[in-house]
Amino acid sequence: MNLRYRKTIIAGNWKMNLNAEAAKQFIAQLKPLAAEAKWCDVVLCVPFLQIPAAVKAAKGTKIAIGAQNCHFETKGAYTGEISCAMLAEAGVKYVIIGHSERRRDCGETDRLVNQKVLAALQAGLRPIICVGETLEMRDNGVTLDLVRMQVKVALRGVMQDQLRRVTIAYEPIWAIGTGYTATAEQAGEVGGCIREVLRQNYGARAARSVSILYGGSMNTSNAATLLAQPDVDGGLIGGASLNAESFGKIIEAANQE
Ligand code: 13P
Repeated sequence: MNLRYRKTIIAGNWKMNLNAEAAKQFIAQLKPLAAEAKWCDVVLCVPFLQIPAAVKAAKGTKIAIGAQNCHFETKGAYTGEISCAMLAEAGVKYVIIGHSERRRDCGETDRLVNQKVLAALQAGLRPIICVGETLEMRDNGVTLDLVRMQVKVALRGVMQDQLRRVTIAYEPIWAIGTGYTATAEQAGEVGGCIREVLRQNYGARAARSVSILYGGSMNTSNAATLLAQPDVDGGLIGGASLNAESFGKIIEAANQE
């Protein structure tokens, strides 16, 4: 973390979990914990259907609501899709783009991720762009090459003044939902590599302003160590974001001056 230059962000990705009632209860429980979080932003990325209830429950609190996906067109014949304008209208502030589960299950490519990022920015949303390697790629030593490429393609056409609304999440696929976490050094190395790509493309000042998150089995016991890395500015948390108490503890770990 480096509070001089950028925000710390703790974001929960609920994936396909929790119904509207559970969302309401969760937010009521999280509210006092989030209120303490002066030094970090708190985001909950909830299933589409839970957005209205979550936005209502989070009104007037420090909690921002995010979505987990979007379409790149503003409207039209795209059955089953939701546009960024619709999300913004519903009170959504953040949107996760290119999560590895969507790359795997829905065939999302870097090019599609790029289209969605541009659409999200256009609609005034803050994209959280997910990148990360498989275990095989890591074993073959191509992690940094892959992540560099994913970041470069995702940001094609993004202007310098839009970059401060972008968040990048490094999520090694082998660490998602597996209980295996990247070491702080591994997370810090990839975070540093992402920052370097941003510096080369946008200059040092713009690069410094971007929050880079780590995601992959982050929990109450490893959060503080991961967040101590200069290029780990927060977390994108799956499993441990489903329980308000444990999510609150991670916020507490991040809320350091
Ligand atoms: P877990 O925290 O459950 O490993 O999930 C991480 C993730 O995919 C967040 O987007």
